[in-house]
Amino acid sequence: MSIPNTHHALVVVEQGKAAVREKALPKVSSDKILIKVKAVALNPTDWKHIDFVLKPGASTGSDFAGDIVQIGADAEGKGFRVGDAVAGFTRGGAIDPDNGAFQEYVTAYPELVWHKPSTLPYEDAAALGGVAPSTAVQALYDHLKLPTPWSPASAPTPILLWAGSTAVGLFAIKLAKLSGLRIATTASPKNHQLLKDLGAELVLDYRDPEAPKKIREWAEQYGGLRHALDNISEQGSTKLVASALGPQGGTVVTLLPVDESKEQPWPANVETIANTLYTALDKKNEKSFNNMHAWNDRITGLIEEGKLSSIPLKYWEGGLEGLTAALDEYRKGRVSAEKIVASI
Ligand SMILES: NC(=O)c1ccc[n+]([C@@H]2O[C@H](COP(=O)([O-])OP(=O)(O)OC[C@H]3O[C@@H](n4cnc5c(N)ncnc54)[C@H](OP(=O)(O)O)[C@@H]3O)[C@@H](O)[C@H]2O)c1
Repeated sequence: MSIPNTHHALVVVEQGKAAVREKALPKVSSDKILIKVKAVALNPTDWKHIDFVLKPGASTGSDFAGDIVQIGADAEGKGFRVGDAVAGFTRGGAIDPDNGAFQEYVTAYPELVWHKPSTLPYEDAAALGGVAPSTAVQALYDHLKLPTPWSPASAPTPILLWAGSTAVGLFAIKLAKLSGLRIATTASPKNHQLLKDLGAELVLDYRDPEAPKKIREWAEQYGGLRHALDNISEQGSTKLVASALGPQGGTVVTLLPVDESKEQPWPANVETIANTLYTALDKKNEKSFNNMHAWNDRITGLIEEGKLSSIPLKYWEGGLEGLTAALDEYRKGRVSAEKIVASI
């Protein structure tokens, strides 16, 4: 297959606005592969980058699935061949202004993609290889150091996954279930049955002022709550999560930097860790990069064994051109318990 010199990409045209333009393909360094994008998934970070981070001309988009069309000399021998179907994520436009998922071709390190099983649709692969599940992996296994799906908990271990209907929360529930953890979570009542079906044991409304107390009491049967992931990290949620931990304290991973000085402080024995997924994209962050590589070596097997599947998907029409309207759904907070995906 011949690779063109230019392609179509959703690029930032001014702060807060993106449009499809023709531009040069991203350069493929010798340690990377080039992928022809077949499907993408969307995340809140995509519109946040368009509105607050990227300069005009920058590519956009994080989650992709597609077919390898080129392999750099130093990326050879890492388990991939031209023609293989793979999935992964990037930080659209921020690391390399020409690299992003919302375009026809994207580059990636071979260590940070995984083989898409032939029966898995590209849209599902884009969601499964994307920002949301990768964040859940980092939070649960790198930061909270909880038992993994391949070495599940042998003793009852409770975890609070606050805001479980977020995309990160849904994947975190799936992973925590595979890890043998006992799960408490929160969401709007319309999403409670879904979260129970995924394996959450206790599901409450995050608007219930008694939720932290009910979670603390529920966890007592398992020796008390010490681990939590705050999947929203906004509007005072971290304070609520911290107060659900028992008197022994514990660790709360947040997904946004939380300014404790603006909130009621939590007890000194509650440690908060702000998760930053993008650390995994930089080889210099060896531990983070290697941990994501190790996860990518496992995910295909979990999918093929029927243990891991995508969260609910909403299929968006219109290819690259349609993505601006899909991004607006996230911008306006209209996405609930699902992930928008699109074919490219
Ligand atoms: N730092 C990192 O590494 C990292 C990585 C990934 C994501 N993030 C950030 O994490 C956040 C979540 O991302 P996402 O893709 O999972 O989000 P998402 O799927 O777009 O979140 C939508 C969900 O948010 C829930 N929600 C809205 N307000 C809430 C509140 N006050 N309390 C609890 N839940 C609430 C809604 O629940 P209901 O419909 O049930 O009400 C809805 O299901 C975003 O801010 C994102 O930018 C950070």
